[in-house]
Amino acid sequence: MKAMIVYSSKTGFTKRYAQWLAEALGAEMIPFEEARKKDDSFFADAQAILYGGWAMGGKIVNSEWFTGKIPKWNGKKLALFCVGASPNELPDVETALHNALTDEERKYARAFYCQGGLAYEKMSLPFKMMMKAYAGMMKKKKDATQMEKDMAEMICHSYDISDRKFIEPIVEYIQGFKE
Ligand SMILES: Cc1cc2nc3c(=O)[nH]c(=O)nc-3n(C[C@H](O)[C@H](O)[C@H](O)COP(=O)(O)O)c2cc1C
Repeated sequence: MKAMIVYSSKTGFTKRYAQWLAEALGAEMIPFEEARKKDDSFFADAQAILYGGWAMGGKIVNSEWFTGKIPKWNGKKLALFCVGASPNELPDVETALHNALTDEERKYARAFYCQGGLAYEKMSLPFKMMMKAYAGMMKKKKDATQMEKDMAEMICHSYDISDRKFIEPIVEYIQGFKE
């Protein structure tokens, strides 16, 4: 099966997942900036196409490129994966995954979440400032749950909660073992 993985990654976590998936599926990896310049023929013989983007404000960066292609890619196995700093258990993860695809798109593609992390040392200054402002806002939130308080503490620093095991459901879906 020919599979292609397109990814957008700023600090490396999404790229790492794209690499793990490429190894597991024997797939080709293409950075988004290259993939967006290709015409439809480039993807024609792929039986599976995956798009991975990092989470920004509850959205998957550049995922509209992928969702816009879903009607054209009818018949291919399609998966969208999101890599964020939130641990899997955080309710925001489910909301982000739900919002990533419309009901119509969900008939043809599936969305997955992979825990990434935060790498302040690799972030550009504007993103670093946005994250710090967000962390400050979360810390001040009045009715914060314990999980939100823990998260507010956690996102003040860099951390890595990525794990190869998060690719397993994606691999199973692409290889068609589970429907
Ligand atoms: C401006 C900004 C907004 C972010 N918003 C979210 C978010 O809504 N949810 C989340 O889980 N992570 C969020 N993150 C964290 C990144 O998604 C996370 O660091 C991810 O692992 C980065 O992937 P990359 O290394 O491939 O660039 C945000 C980071 C930045 C800089």
